[in-house]
Amino acid sequence: MNLLDFVKGATFDDFLFTPQLGVVPSRDPSAIDLSARFTEHLTLQRPIVSANMDTITRAAMAVVLAEEGGIGIIDRGFRAGDIAPQVSEVLAVKRTQHGVIMDPHAIGEDALIVDARRVMRQTGVGTLAVVDEAQRLRGLLTERDVRFVSGDARVSERMTPRAQLIVHTGLTSLANAEALMTTHKIKKLPLINDDGTVIGLVTAKDLLKHRRHPFATRDERGRLRVGAAVGATGDYLERAAEVLKAGADLLVIDIAHGHSTIMGRAIEQLRARFGGVDLVAGNIATAEGARFLMERGVNAIKVGIGPGGGCTTRLTTNFGVPQVEALVQAKLAVGDRIPLIADGGIKRHGGIAEALLFGGDTVMLGSAFAGTQETPGDIVMKPVLMPDSQKVVQVPFKVFRGMASLAAVKDRLDLEEADAHEVEALGAEGLEVSVPARGSVRIVIHDMLKHLCSSISYGGAGSLGELRARFLAEPERYLVRLSTAARHESFTR
Ligand code: XMP
Repeated sequence: MNLLDFVKGATFDDFLFTPQLGVVPSRDPSAIDLSARFTEHLTLQRPIVSANMDTITRAAMAVVLAEEGGIGIIDRGFRAGDIAPQVSEVLAVKRTQHGVIMDPHAIGEDALIVDARRVMRQTGVGTLAVVDEAQRLRGLLTERDVRFVSGDARVSERMTPRAQLIVHTGLTSLANAEALMTTHKIKKLPLINDDGTVIGLVTAKDLLKHRRHPFATRDERGRLRVGAAVGATGDYLERAAEVLKAGADLLVIDIAHGHSTIMGRAIEQLRARFGGVDLVAGNIATAEGARFLMERGVNAIKVGIGPGGGCTTRLTTNFGVPQVEALVQAKLAVGDRIPLIADGGIKRHGGIAEALLFGGDTVMLGSAFAGTQETPGDIVMKPVLMPDSQKVVQVPFKVFRGMASLAAVKDRLDLEEADAHEVEALGAEGLEVSVPARGSVRIVIHDMLKHLCSSISYGGAGSLGELRARFLAEPERYLVRLSTAARHESFTR
């Protein structure tokens, strides 16, 4: 079968897959291998990525994505030149969950309890290392030590002194730290140098979090991983330098038309400046576009021009490629040499399995996460007429918008300074919509993963990797092109 001919002009709702002999004993996501390559250097345990959109991914979203085995990409939807807000989102993710805290917050032993309380409140940290002028460890001070105590007392009076602490000299693995903490029945393990200076801290709370999120995407220090988006013009080099300094694990060069000379130049500049950093680039929707990015040495490619839920590119420009065809074009062009990210257009959970079989190594989701608790933005109550009772009730909503929507673009400009005509002249390629506010994205992700495991079972495979390999080897065994009636029977409810 010529797969490309078969999917020409087609997208998600044009296909079903034929069920095969099921072989998995259970559809439990913790028992089925769902790992997938996100970039050439980073494999995720779950193939799910949250989109770099200013109504989707900030620190709260990125933390849950990484804890659940995927990754979040912090958007660059902040004003040009205003880099600090994106940096603080990256920092917030990197500080959320540590294996070894490499730079524990510290306080001097002569400081007052009132100061210690302030540091704890401001940093959200419950354990401070108490140090002398040379940063040598003198003790530990926890929230419990400062509770119900006069603010005028000194830190040295309340801390657990160094002599009573179990400490470890040098860095250590988490497994070793856990063993030491179990043997000595302690909840905190400070790490020090030979000269007594503090180099790190391991806490039982963090170790428990590691246990609770066995599939989490972590860096070599045990911190959650996060990506950051940059553009291809303007402040992108400076932005890249700052987010990398803050600990971003990879850069996503995200522009609407990634198959462009602007993109070529940006890749060159970013490589020259940041060497081997993991670079994801996009978006493209053709074989030539995919080859263009691969030849320039990026480490993953984002595929999708115009399928996104908040996108009007196809309406306003008439350019784009139906997403399934775009994925197949890109996959046939790059093979297994470079991972593809299927970006946009996934509206139902079955679309995730489709995007992954037609060529995506991972999927990037925007609207599928819209309205969840972890998305940025305020909840607004709106009156809604209930069809059954004909009563008007107040329903909570959140805003979801395309990054090229007029509202998002205006927000990124400094409106005080921008010329009114300039704002009017902006060609918007995105929508702004209200979506019902709902619970945590964690539940949405769990649901998606269960459905993906069911797809693997129906597909006769034992893992995601196996299902993809089987499909690409024999697509004719799986593919059903739908008639209008079949599409209606399948997806209209
Ligand atoms: P979904 O369908 O998951 O898609 O919401 C998310 C992706 O949509 C893209 N995106 C846009 N595309 N105009 C566009 O043409 C826009 O304003 C816009 N905003 C987001 C983007 O690739 C995202 O990951």
